[in-house]
Amino acid sequence: MNNIYKPYLARIEEVRWETPDTKTFKLAFIDPEIYDSFTFKAGQFGEYSSFGEGESTFCISSSPTRKGYIECSFKVVGKVTTALKNKDIGDLIGFRGPFGNSFPIENMFDKNLIFVGGGIGLAPLRSLIWNCLDLRERFKDITILYGARSVSDLCYKNELKQWEERADVKFIKTVDPGGETADWNGKIGFVPTILKEISPSPENAVAITCGPPIMIKFVLQTLEQMGFKAEQVVTTLENRMKCGLGKCGRCNIGSTYVCIDGPVFTAEQLKALPEDF
Ligand SMILES: Cc1cc2nc3c(=O)[nH]c(=O)nc-3n(C[C@H](O)[C@H](O)[C@H](O)COP(=O)(O)OP(=O)(O)OC[C@H]3O[C@@H](n4cnc5c(N)ncnc54)[C@H](O)[C@@H]3O)c2cc1C
Ligand code: FES
Repeated sequence: MNNIYKPYLARIEEVRWETPDTKTFKLAFIDPEIYDSFTFKAGQFGEYSSFGEGESTFCISSSPTRKGYIECSFKVVGKVTTALKNKDIGDLIGFRGPFGNSFPIENMFDKNLIFVGGGIGLAPLRSLIWNCLDLRERFKDITILYGARSVSDLCYKNELKQWEERADVKFIKTVDPGGETADWNGKIGFVPTILKEISPSPENAVAITCGPPIMIKFVLQTLEQMGFKAEQVVTTLENRMKCGLGKCGRCNIGSTYVCIDGPVFTAEQLKALPEDF
C-alpha cells in the first residue's frame, strides 16, 4: 500500500525572488512514480518539505496547462520557509499532493471574470489566471486587480507587465498609500477602494479573490455592495495545516476541513461556516 505521508522528490529547476521576502521555485519531479503522470487543478495545494526541517503548505502557483513542472511561491515567515529559502537550483525538496478542491473553472466558462488579489495571495490566482488565459476563448472579459503594500512587494512583476500589455485583459495594479515610487504608473489605494472605483458589473460575472484576511473581508463586502451574489464570489482560505489529508484535525472550522472541503470556497459557503475566518 502507498504511504500517503511519503513525499515525492522534486528538483529545483529555477529560483526567482519575487519580492525581498518571497521566493518562487520551479520544480520538476524526479520520482519515477509520478514523473509522467502528475496532474493537478488550479487552486490545489501541496505540502513542501525541507528534509530534516518539516513541511509547509503552499498552493501550486503555476497553471495546470503548463505541463512537466510545477511552481510554488512562498513568503519567508518561519522555520520551514527559512529552510526552503536557503535551497538553490539542483537541490531536492519533498512534495505531497496535490490536495484540496480547486477553482470551479467549468462554472466560469462564458462569464466575465474579475480577479482581485493582494500580495502573495496572487499565487493561487496566478494558477487560475494562466489557466484561463491559455483557454482564453472560453471566457468573456477578464479583469485583474492586483495590489500590494508597496511596489517592491508586488509579486510576478514580469507577468504583471504581460497582463498589462494584453488587449484581452483589463489589468489594474495598485499599491497602498505611501508604497509608491517616483516612477509608479499604477493606482495608489487599498485594493477594496480601487475595486469600488473600477466597479465591475455583477452581470454574468464571477469574482475570484485571495489576499490577506483583512483584504478578503473588505473585498467580499465591496462585491456584495456592488450587487454580486454570494455564489458569484470565490475565495481560498489558508488555515494552518499539517497532514493536508483530513486526518490531523489541524485545519477545521467546525465540521469543515479546509484541507479536503477547501481551500476554495464560495462566499455563500463561507457564510455558512460557524466562525469568522
Ligand atoms: C491551503 C494553503 C495554501 C497556502 N499557500 C501559500 C502560498 O502559496 N505561499 C505562501 O507563502 N504561503 C502559503 N500558505 C501559508 C504557509 O503555509 C505558511 O506561511 C507556512 O507554512 C509557514 O511555514 P513556516 O514553517 O516557515 O512558519 P512557522 O514557523 O510555522 O510560522 C511562522 C509564522 O507564520 C504563521 N503561519 C504559519 N502557517 C500559517 C498559515 N497557514 N496561515 C497564516 N499564518 C501562518 C505562524 O503563525 C507564525 O506567525 C498557505 C497556507 C495554506 C493552508
Ligand atoms: S490539515 Fe490535517 S485535517 Fe486538515
